[in-house]
Amino acid sequence: MIEKDKIPKLSIKNLQSIEDLSVQDIENIIDTAKLFKYSNKEQNKKIPILSGRTIINLFFEPSTRTLISFEIAAKRLGADIINMNIESSSLRKGETLIDTADTLNSMNPDLVIVRHSISGSINEISSRIKCPIISAGEGTVEHPTQALLDAFTIQDKGKNFKDIVVSICGDIEHSRVARSNYYLLKKMGAKVRFVTPEYFKPKNIENFDVEYFDNLEKGIDSADIVMMLRIQKERIANTDLPSTDEYYKSFGLTYKKLTRAKDDVLVMHPGPINRNVEIESALADDLNKSVINEQVENGVSVRMACLAMMVK
Ligand code: CP
Repeated sequence: MIEKDKIPKLSIKNLQSIEDLSVQDIENIIDTAKLFKYSNKEQNKKIPILSGRTIINLFFEPSTRTLISFEIAAKRLGADIINMNIESSSLRKGETLIDTADTLNSMNPDLVIVRHSISGSINEISSRIKCPIISAGEGTVEHPTQALLDAFTIQDKGKNFKDIVVSICGDIEHSRVARSNYYLLKKMGAKVRFVTPEYFKPKNIENFDVEYFDNLEKGIDSADIVMMLRIQKERIANTDLPSTDEYYKSFGLTYKKLTRAKDDVLVMHPGPINRNVEIESALADDLNKSVINEQVENGVSVRMACLAMMVK
């Protein structure tokens, strides 16, 4: 029996950045998500501790995993959730982001979840909304709940953060997932490597306490976790990219390249994946190595934990 009063609260009001979370917050989210992972396996998955609360999903960018898992999470907790359709909203009549935020705030939601392509947009929205806000991915800044569900998955598979080497591989420059995972893994004591071709290397790499590799085989040598990233085509301008075949040859993860990592390595990818571009198709589906589907499954439990800990 999960009781709302016994669920710990987050030390912060808005979940925009992993940098704002304490180690205790992260541990509390993971521990709470564990409880929901059990309840999510029951036939009746409803734990209606947020009955009567109103949550709004405000997604300005496409999403499958994050949007649907937040909706499922809210519904399993008994809240009413509204997915605002941006295309049919008054934004298309010229209403500003600020006025949209004011309008939604006037309807007294209990939590708003926002995905936006522009870095800084969530600060703009949160300045006008009284209730807590969760970032569901903001420009190239952060995607905090993705890093939390990745951490949950790593721990759930029996790994101890302080003992592991995590190689984050691919398009790091444009990846909010890479940034959130970097902050979280470093906070929890893991060793982090950035494995990326020169054209995807973050311009401010000196600000990250990582080992840097421009060669995939060397970068995943003896790694415990290989975290592949999607090429963020929608955020790339003026970068001379190789063909997808060339990229796959040098930076696509294959069974052959993976032999360099530890035998019990976990292969992760936040999704959506580009098969045979970032990762060999059969490897992505290989449940002995790939935890991609478990990441998605755990996303529901982690998002339930975040909602339960943040909604009053
Ligand atoms: N990982 C992730 O954010 O996927 P979606 O874009 O499908 O939500």
